[in-house]
Amino acid sequence: MPDLVFFGPPGAGKGTQAKRLVSALGIPQISTGEIMRAERKSGSELGQRFDEFMSKGKLVPDEMVLELMEKRLKQEDAARGAIFDGFPRSVPQAEALDGLLGSLDRQIDKVIVLEVPEDSIVERITGRRIDPASGQEYHVRYNPPPAGTEVVQRADDTEEVVRTRYADYKAITEPVLQHYEPRGLVVTVDGVGGLDEVTERIEAVLPKG
Ligand code: AP5
Repeated sequence: MPDLVFFGPPGAGKGTQAKRLVSALGIPQISTGEIMRAERKSGSELGQRFDEFMSKGKLVPDEMVLELMEKRLKQEDAARGAIFDGFPRSVPQAEALDGLLGSLDRQIDKVIVLEVPEDSIVERITGRRIDPASGQEYHVRYNPPPAGTEVVQRADDTEEVVRTRYADYKAITEPVLQHYEPRGLVVTVDGVGGLDEVTERIEAVLPKG
């Protein structure tokens, strides 16, 4: 089973596409953003510390993220591979992930970069809505929720916060690709198009076997 990184700017469709591939691949989606939002919702002290960074669109410090990832990778469902969504997001996180997977005799098999132009990102993020009951994500225009579904907006999905998240992506996260490129692991996929179309493009570049 593979260990895959779904990579790309905020709003590129990493979460949407990861969820679509979980059952076909038989491995879980591990989204650091989702784990942190659940912790924040629980009202725990740790959640409050995450919130200090997340509400401003700033990256949570590496040591806090890595502690969380170490625990998550020990769970049974992640024993045979995972889709990492929104992680690693800095070079130190990528180096630490190599170490964590190496200790399990595993390694990253592919880094799939979803490419979406900056103009589309703000529209996608500000139009995103979530059904708090199921966790299902929608978009007011591209993937509208079924009639009668009560949806909410993520607190960090305002235009101002998205611009900060995008700036951090360019400065801190994009350089992570240079960590994987020498190993020939990086593959770029056009993230613009219908949801099925993008899923098919990803399936076409997944590791075989
Ligand atoms: P996180 O939750 O990871 O957010 P993100 O990377 O900014 O990514 P998003 O969830 O916004 O976008 P996505 O690419 O998953 O797109 P989606 O599929 O939802 O992180 C949030 C915060 O947590 C960070 O800012 C940071 O503070 C912290 N954090 C998390 N991980 C961290 C880490 N490793 N280190 C440090 N800090 C960390 O799609 C977006 C919208 O577009 C949806 O409405 C969707 O319906 C729509 N859409 C999807 N595909 C298409 C399509 N093909 N066409 C049209 N619309 C589409």
